[in-house]
Amino acid sequence: MPSLPTAFTDLVGCDLPLQLAPMGGGVGTPQLAAAVCEAGGLGMISSVGPAPLTEQIATLRDLTAGPFGVGFFGFDLANRPADLELAAAEARVVDIFWGTPDAAIVAQIHAGGALAFWQVGSVEEAVAAADAGCDAVVAQGVEAGGHVRGTTPLRLLLEQVVPRLSVPVAAAGGITTGRHVRDAFDAGASAVRVGTRLLATTESAAHPDYLAALVAAEGADTELTVAFHVGWEDAPHRVLRSAIDAAAAASDPVAWLGDGDQRFPVGRASAMPPTTGCSGEIGAMALYAGTGVGEIDEVVSVEAAVRLLFGTSQ
Ligand SMILES: Cc1cc2nc3c(=O)[nH]c(=O)nc-3n(C[C@H](O)[C@H](O)[C@H](O)COP(=O)(O)O)c2cc1C
Repeated sequence: MPSLPTAFTDLVGCDLPLQLAPMGGGVGTPQLAAAVCEAGGLGMISSVGPAPLTEQIATLRDLTAGPFGVGFFGFDLANRPADLELAAAEARVVDIFWGTPDAAIVAQIHAGGALAFWQVGSVEEAVAAADAGCDAVVAQGVEAGGHVRGTTPLRLLLEQVVPRLSVPVAAAGGITTGRHVRDAFDAGASAVRVGTRLLATTESAAHPDYLAALVAAEGADTELTVAFHVGWEDAPHRVLRSAIDAAAAASDPVAWLGDGDQRFPVGRASAMPPTTGCSGEIGAMALYAGTGVGEIDEVVSVEAAVRLLFGTSQ
């Protein structure tokens, strides 16, 4: 894939203006992140594991020399001071989601040597992130899979945010095709942040039934809901509607994580998405998906997915 320089690639030092979304709960792995790095993008791992951050970084480092980032939740930072220090020292990017942009946190990230990114859902939050000293801001449209910070469609949010900021803006939400990528760049984005499309790859740790549901879904099959609230209350998220219906009809627990002595119940309405380590009613777990899911027809390698996003034929 030829490189595609933008303000984002200049800042990060990667070839493609692509950021993998950090995906918590075990679906986003160091292997997935490394594959994105190897394809020329910015691979991301999640600080919420399940593997300890030191282990995730070591695995990633064995697989790629590319720049990578670590995602944190703003509300969780106080629980993970050592992880934040480690990420700031080891990663190119520390990325925060869900919390008021905070100059002290940004200064801490910079002190360790990393760049600070903040994912936001409104123009007010974007300006606050830039004012707090962030090096880039991720504008998340309401189309996004997973937890959704705001209510504004991506195009409108980019139109509001880009003229107000002097730092690069990455666009997130519903991006699964080359046309979506071009639309984001047309609206002034310097990069795209992609979750669902890169989750539906052979390198992801999403459960096979989850992958099959993503491939089968149409664009209108997602819903913004608070249905999967256990473990994270009052936070809207976008999932496949089928999961909401299945969870409503399911018994409790709906599934198990692990096996033998190391088997843990996954309660109904848990915020945890199904990984390859889960068994039970997978379709009744939190099947996070963005609105672009209807244009995912196949589980492919990360390399092929990146070609779909950045190749010239799409
Ligand atoms: C399965 C899944 C898990 C996610 N987990 C996280 C997370 O742990 N941290 C985070 O910052 N964003 C998370 N997100 C949201 C992404 O950062 C991003 O906004 C979203 O994936 C963009 O929309 P798309 O999925 O349509 O590409 C998650 C998204 C998905 C689909």
